[in-house]
Amino acid sequence: MSASLLHAVQSDFLLRFGYEPLLVRAPGRVNLIGEHTDYNGGFVLPAAVDKEMLFAVGLNGGTAIRLVAYDLNEAFELASPAEVCPSAAHWANYLLGVVAQLQQRGIVIQGFDCVFGGNVPLGSGMSSSAALECGLAFALNHLLGAGLDKMALAQAAQKAEHTYAGVHCGIMDQFASLFGRTGQVVRLDCRTLDYEYFPFDTTASRIVLCNSGVKHSLASSEYNTRRQECERGVAVLRQYFPAVQSLRDATLAQLEAHHAELGDVVFRRCAYIVRENGRVEAACRHLEAGNLAAFGQEMYASHAGLRDDYEVSCAELDALVEAARAVPGVFGARMMGGGFGGCTINLVAPARVEEFIASVSAAYKAKFGLALETYQTTIVDGVGLVGSKQLIVNS
Ligand code: GLA
Repeated sequence: MSASLLHAVQSDFLLRFGYEPLLVRAPGRVNLIGEHTDYNGGFVLPAAVDKEMLFAVGLNGGTAIRLVAYDLNEAFELASPAEVCPSAAHWANYLLGVVAQLQQRGIVIQGFDCVFGGNVPLGSGMSSSAALECGLAFALNHLLGAGLDKMALAQAAQKAEHTYAGVHCGIMDQFASLFGRTGQVVRLDCRTLDYEYFPFDTTASRIVLCNSGVKHSLASSEYNTRRQECERGVAVLRQYFPAVQSLRDATLAQLEAHHAELGDVVFRRCAYIVRENGRVEAACRHLEAGNLAAFGQEMYASHAGLRDDYEVSCAELDALVEAARAVPGVFGARMMGGGFGGCTINLVAPARVEEFIASVSAAYKAKFGLALETYQTTIVDGVGLVGSKQLIVNS
């Protein structure tokens, strides 16, 4: 956690509002494998990482909602919680959406103040928006004694993204931000919401992210289109196989039997999801067996599916994955998150990290003329309180 950022956010709050706030940190996430499977009732394998949003939040004793984006030096204010509705201020919507969702769950929102800042790169596929939503949801739940559990907070935050940001996302990002655990990745069954932690040994492999610098601005509309294509696939299959409630239940044989009716595009979208679910399960077995080479092959296959069948990659991400593949000591690489830009995730042998970064950066510069930003991430706990001595309480 960045102590200087925490100090800055806390001081800014004190200066503006004149009382001691509650301090909360909310991490961004990586996803090792299982992309676009969450809204198809499938499996994902994310972890919370040390790129975080930090919040100072307090009840002000009145009705006003005062929000401050520290990094942007922008403020937003509402006279009362009754006035909450989508606003023109893009960043404020993530927070207002959370307030609206808590209200819908019968929680009476009192006036509050919130200053937040962070170092989760925006639009990079590391879920800065989920961190924003989950941090405020956690803080308000705590301050108001609302008693929602972490899964309910994740669901409220997800719904906030649907209603106030217009992205019909699955639950992975909000789940990962809230349920992360130091040194572990977590496999979530997005249908049952059962989850299992797996230790991730960073002495055997580092997680390095390469930021293509392409902001995934196209992503929200294309994202919703992918979701609709999957729903169309389920609707077709269900006429023949009533047990198919989501693509989680579908098989390749079923898809192939109805290829013509599905049409080529929907067929490829659905086939990718069916295969990706299988890859997550295989990847978890490889992780348990300590077989990083086999795990990495699943990642490469995931990338190929996202590029060719799901069609959510872009030239920059493809080039980063190919450049990674050529470096010794790289176990696997793939694009990460919604796609159309953002980061690749790379598993790299610790002794090879420097060489990896130098080599991929040079290849990226040569091909696109762009300087590559990379992040070596560590796996941290999910959303929690930050104590006065910066002790983290994850409850
Ligand atoms: C975005 C969404 C997630 C998930 C990923 C793709 O990050 O918010 O719910 O669908 O894309 O795996």
